[in-house]
Amino acid sequence: MPDTLTITDNRTGTTIDIPIENGAIRATAFEELRAPDTEHGLMLYDPAFMNTASCKSRITFIDGDRGILLYRGYPIEQLAEHSTYLETAYLLVHGELPTASQAEEWNREITHHTLIHENVKQFIDGFHHDAHPMGILVSTVGALSTFYPDATQIYDEAQRRISIYRLIAKMPTLAAFAYRHSLGLPYNYPDNDLSFPGNFLSMLFKMVELKYEPAPEIEHALDVLFILHADHEQNCSTNAMRSVGSSHPDPYTATAAAVAALYGPLHGGANEAVVRMIGRIGSIDRVPEFIEGVKAGKERLMGFGHRVYKNYDPRAKVIKQMADQVLGVTGTSAELDIARELEKIALEDEYFVSRKLYPNVDFYSGFIYRALGIPVDMFPVLFAIPRVSGWLSQWEESLLDKEQKIARPRQVYLGSARRDYVPLGSR
Ligand code: ACO
Repeated sequence: MPDTLTITDNRTGTTIDIPIENGAIRATAFEELRAPDTEHGLMLYDPAFMNTASCKSRITFIDGDRGILLYRGYPIEQLAEHSTYLETAYLLVHGELPTASQAEEWNREITHHTLIHENVKQFIDGFHHDAHPMGILVSTVGALSTFYPDATQIYDEAQRRISIYRLIAKMPTLAAFAYRHSLGLPYNYPDNDLSFPGNFLSMLFKMVELKYEPAPEIEHALDVLFILHADHEQNCSTNAMRSVGSSHPDPYTATAAAVAALYGPLHGGANEAVVRMIGRIGSIDRVPEFIEGVKAGKERLMGFGHRVYKNYDPRAKVIKQMADQVLGVTGTSAELDIARELEKIALEDEYFVSRKLYPNVDFYSGFIYRALGIPVDMFPVLFAIPRVSGWLSQWEESLLDKEQKIARPRQVYLGSARRDYVPLGSR
């Protein structure tokens, strides 16, 4: 059987054979099908990219029906158990796990780029005391581009490398400074003796002690959360990174666009929305009433459902187990009990079962962050810190992909036909 698709345009009787490659056909093949008196060939209409591949990628694989997530072929569960975030970031960027010497160099480079220019502190100071830290992060990441003008040389591999080091290294610093600003506390400089997550905890929480020593369970939990959030193929923010990157700005500017996309409650803001939702529910006995409201279309069950996963999100499984471990150290939470009850009821309810709505990565992550003492406003920021390694891997892959061009979708125009301007007095 030939790997082709045969299409007949019944308007004209034209038949074309389109090759099927890797389970996909090229949308441009349809341009040939053109009815008389039409201004363009046949287009594919796909709002929200429901069934359109925007790129070929070798980074992350998801099988949403079976609940499988692989980074460069490695199952997320194995990475969560055995790897570290920094090693996983190397894997995403380079395509292979590092050797011992590669890991040493990578860790050294990232560690040596954690400081930010002193001027950055000044413009963080300029934000209102209750500024959302995600708003601060969008602005400060974008502003980094002004400190590194050479980063515009995106086809210079050395420039790309150093931008990657800087962005992965400086995200926790910017995030922690945004947090400390919101509390009116002095900024803590990075402590390069600590691990990547340990240093972040130190920049967040160190007070007057000479050396901050993170609890090993908490440090580990944060590292695992970072691994789980590092990439997720062509999601909304990654698409923003690739799309903005396609006009060839420096990576700091493209990353600011990705952070902005992540900010929304349907994406990285979802774990914040979950915790707020649980707060509104208030107690276990009100869970059934809340579920009825969701089914009646009053609101969504945040942290449930996913465009791609039609099964339990594999990241949510790891996080659920970890929530139990972390809360074992920090003390139990009434909120987590409400969440567990919500999950139990939803997983048995026909509304959720028939729509294949399962917990996603955001359903439990917020409770771990809460247990670590991190305020809800910071949740999407904690997502952005590791996701930058995925964004950068995808950005670089896109830049080096000879088939990519500036991203520019078509539209189906439904507006007015040509008409003449009517002066104000005659309308
Ligand atoms: N609660 C209640 N109903 C839902 C939910 C939900 N969380 N999610 C989807 N549905 C329903 C829809 O109402 C729709 O029902 P209908 O067919 O009767 O109209 C059906 O399920 C399909 O939903 P869509 O909106 O078409 O699904 P889509 O793929 O566009 O949306 C999304 C995916 C945005 C994640 C959605 O499930 C949602 O809003 N979830 C809550 C927010 C959330 O948790 N976001 C985090 C996603 S993971 C991440 O970004 C890291």
